Amino acid sequence: MSPKAFQPAPVIVEQLIRCRAAQSVQELRQSVARIKNELPDSADSPNGTDDYLLSELTQISEALTLERGLYYVERLIRSMSEVRTSAINDINLNRWKEYDDILTDSLWVVDRRDSSGVHTAGYWGNFVPQIPRQMMTRYTRKGDWVLDPFAGSGTTLIEGQRLGRNTIGIELQPRMVEYANGLIASETNSHHVTADVVIGDSATADLRSILQDHGTETVQLVITHPPYLDIIRFSDDPRDLSNAASVEAFLEMMGRVVENVAPVLDSGRYLALVIGDKYAKGDWIPLGFQTMNEVVKRGFSLKSIVVKNFEDTTGKRNQKELWRYRALVGGFYIFKHEYIFIFRKDQASNQRYVQSDESERCGTALK
Ligand SMILES: C[S@@+](CC[C@H](N)C(=O)[O-])C[C@H]1O[C@@H](n2cnc3c(N)ncnc32)[C@H](O)[C@@H]1O
Repeated sequence: MSPKAFQPAPVIVEQLIRCRAAQSVQELRQSVARIKNELPDSADSPNGTDDYLLSELTQISEALTLERGLYYVERLIRSMSEVRTSAINDINLNRWKEYDDILTDSLWVVDRRDSSGVHTAGYWGNFVPQIPRQMMTRYTRKGDWVLDPFAGSGTTLIEGQRLGRNTIGIELQPRMVEYANGLIASETNSHHVTADVVIGDSATADLRSILQDHGTETVQLVITHPPYLDIIRFSDDPRDLSNAASVEAFLEMMGRVVENVAPVLDSGRYLALVIGDKYAKGDWIPLGFQTMNEVVKRGFSLKSIVVKNFEDTTGKRNQKELWRYRALVGGFYIFKHEYIFIFRKDQASNQRYVQSDESERCGTALK
């Protein structure tokens, strides 16, 4: 996820600085040609000659005007000598071209689940590690804290440990807590971060004191991956969102989780919701958008909606033909996607929630 390590060779920066004196495009091109000639060969250089550096030098020599060429020179000098990041991640904006593994489109086709290290598809209903990885890379910095209120098998926490983010998970099922913490413990922790799944109901857990026990007051990102209502029943616990008696009950339970996590999320930081839709009695239930609305109602601003493909689960794969036949007969479509909704908690989020609650009450009273 980070730029390939080329040496920010002071020699090249010095050569580029000398390029500033060029009086014509031709002169600039000659200087750039000299720099290129003096670059170590890929095979001889310890890191290999950097593709990025070569393509930037080519861009300079292909500039049609001196002004443009010098603009590219300045940009390259900056990218080799300064790190420029935003307040919410460690992406070096001066070298943005090198982050080719960060997704910025709203359609994600992930053809293979990352199963490296302790990651496993063993827990039915877990998400691909690429989701929390993308979220943490875009919306957190090293050392930040991430909360996952539906931790399941701990995918977010395993990924956080790899990326140097501290993570706390909440999970209702004690057996999953034990399982997830076991996986996390067997993953290398080279950044020495915290990663712990705690037993609890995310709608009521005392998150403030759980966080304090682990050494922080707040988190900088929340990643939520609730049950998609009853598509998979995770337990018999009535507090489990997969046991909600209806869509309305599910939305209310999810709303309570959002209300519980919102106060411990720093303002200006992000909440991701991963969820899919479902069918009920032959009708498409837009659970994703309905849940999205519950978050927006609580004062979060919607920043993006990503549509991600579903990989076939083993069960579905075996029944693929049958489902295709049923779809043709019934005139419906087979789910192949889920959503990642990305929200930001604005300064006024909590305030707005209180106000809208008030105005709703006033509205009801006036009727
Ligand atoms: C879709 S799974 C999350 C999977 C997780 N992202 C992973 O990769 O393993 C939803 C999880 O939420 C848990 N859960 C359901 N209701 C909960 C609640 N009220 N509080 C905490 N966890 C809950 C379920 O036990 C289940 O493990």
